[in-house]
Amino acid sequence: MSTADLKHTQTLAALGVSSAEKVQSLFVELRARFDAESGRVTDENSWKALRDAWLGRKSGVLTLVTDNWLKPATPELKRAVGASLNELRAHVDIQVEARHTAIEAGSEATASAKDRVDLSLPGVIRPIGTHHLIRQVFQEIEDIFFSIGFSVVEGPEIETPYYNFEALNIPEFHPVRDDMDTFYVDLAKGAAQPLLLRTHTSPMQIRTMEKRQPPVRVIVPGKVYRRDNPDATHSFIFHQVEGLAVDNDITFCDFTGTIEYFVKQFFGPGVKTRFRPSYFPFTEPSVEFDVSCIFCGGSGTAAGGGTCSKCKGSGWIELFGAGMVDPAVYGFVKYDPKKVSGFAFGMGIDRLAMLKYGIDDIQVFFQNDVRFLRQFP
Ligand code: DAH
Repeated sequence: MSTADLKHTQTLAALGVSSAEKVQSLFVELRARFDAESGRVTDENSWKALRDAWLGRKSGVLTLVTDNWLKPATPELKRAVGASLNELRAHVDIQVEARHTAIEAGSEATASAKDRVDLSLPGVIRPIGTHHLIRQVFQEIEDIFFSIGFSVVEGPEIETPYYNFEALNIPEFHPVRDDMDTFYVDLAKGAAQPLLLRTHTSPMQIRTMEKRQPPVRVIVPGKVYRRDNPDATHSFIFHQVEGLAVDNDITFCDFTGTIEYFVKQFFGPGVKTRFRPSYFPFTEPSVEFDVSCIFCGGSGTAAGGGTCSKCKGSGWIELFGAGMVDPAVYGFVKYDPKKVSGFAFGMGIDRLAMLKYGIDDIQVFFQNDVRFLRQFP
């Protein structure tokens, strides 16, 4: 602060001011100082500093001018000092208020400039997701079966033992239940019946036949659950597509023709197929359906020589179970086994996807690592 800036801390007598003209020029100087300071105010903080410096009740410039210039002034000068001080006070009051309004308006303008949407800018493109590979394979399979007259039905993942086992001709204590380590739901004591996570999509065969009369031609895509320990080929949750066709004239030839058609559509026309005898309680006869190894072309020899690791040298890969519907099953849904016949199959979708897309660990389907998912856009 220069000495000029400190004049208001001294009395008029000490400043040697003894005439009205000199009083006036003192106030002109002071007003110029205020105008300069108020011109430097740019934000709320500097505005507050200005207000306190000039209007502060205890040591603001105007208070000190009152104390040092007005109060001790000689009677001759008092009038001149009083008039000029009132003018200055009015000027300072108005200007301080005006600066505040200007600052507030300014900060609003900056804020709204920040928020303004510029419609001429190019938009942000948010990529939409893609279907998980399992969902894509479901779709491929559904399309193939749609093309030969099948439709899709879906059903509950929490089932009763009746639909999951009994009505599929798997009575309690049948050893085949041991193949399916089952998750039972924890129910309150006194629950009407046990519930379980379905171990296969086959219960939907029963639910469909209960509701519909032949002809029935459905596939059932969905999730199934077994108490398996996770490894490269096992997961406690996996996916199946069940198939069921029942009519009054369906033969074993319709069955093999349909399955072969599907497999050639799915893996390509070059693959060879074969049936092997097998056993399922709900089909008779039952088969395992194999396809010639897609990795070694059925030769059993790997590309670089040596045994093909995928088919272990056999040239064949086991695909899924199937068969002609066991007549006992018709009894559970009140179909007449003498009039109707049909076939069923149940394929593991994770396995089919792994074979078709060369994936060697089932766990990647459930880890949702985008580096894997992005490979199947
Ligand atoms: N439900 C059987 C399983 O999960 C698969 C199966 C085999 C389904 C033969 C069928 C069938 O419909 O006919 O192991």
